[in-house]
Amino acid sequence: MLLFPPEVPRRFLIDPAAYRREPLDRNAIVVRPVGPEQYAELGRLVADIYVNEGYALRSQRGWLEDVAMRATQGQIFVALDRNRILGSAMLAKPPSPLAELSGPGEGDVRLVTVARFARGQGVGAKLMAAVIDAARADGLKALVLWTQASMESAQRLYERLGFVRHPVLDRATNVRTFLGYRLELD
Ligand SMILES: CC(C)(COP(=O)(O)OP(=O)(O)OC[C@H]1O[C@@H](n2cnc3c(N)ncnc32)[C@H](O)[C@@H]1OP(=O)(O)O)[C@@H](O)C(=O)NCCC(=O)NCCS
Repeated sequence: MLLFPPEVPRRFLIDPAAYRREPLDRNAIVVRPVGPEQYAELGRLVADIYVNEGYALRSQRGWLEDVAMRATQGQIFVALDRNRILGSAMLAKPPSPLAELSGPGEGDVRLVTVARFARGQGVGAKLMAAVIDAARADGLKALVLWTQASMESAQRLYERLGFVRHPVLDRATNVRTFLGYRLELD
């Protein structure tokens, strides 16, 4: 039985501690490509955030956990604090099936995720910088992405980095509104 509609943050109701922020040692934060030894932990983090915060359905949990599969379809970066995973972001380019929004010469930014305890300390910005650097190194001319209307912190992050709204990509379902954003890399 579905106890709460998908967009209600169930985890807040179950475990308020999950929302507590923990100060990070900025000098210890590194961003690097994900390694196979991190697939399971990262999969749990991404799935927990997307499902528990209401950005995805519980039926999508298996796909969200499957980092091994996604690693074959693009570049996945993780932010680490010593040996702990703080967050992740992915770059996918055509012909990857995960490059759903990209045209030729473009890349999709996917699944930008930071653990709640680590938010508000620049981890998301560091992950996005890694994705943008990788896209430039790959010769891509633009990055495109979807963000959900409820992801307000993400929208501010993208706009700070120069992404602009790209309404031609917008899409709505009966439970979610997806907003398109685009960053020119020239
Ligand atoms: C969106 C998300 C990835 C941002 O991650 P983050 O690590 O918190 O991002 P940053 O720390 O770079 O920026 C977030 C906020 O912290 C602030 N911040 C960054 N560094 C800071 C610092 N040193 N001191 C104080 N505040 C700081 C930023 O100004 C920003 O504030 P704002 O939200 O009011 O605009 C994270 O909130 C998340 O995982 N959300 C759920 C999933 C999601 O929405 N994903 C987006 C998919 S499209």
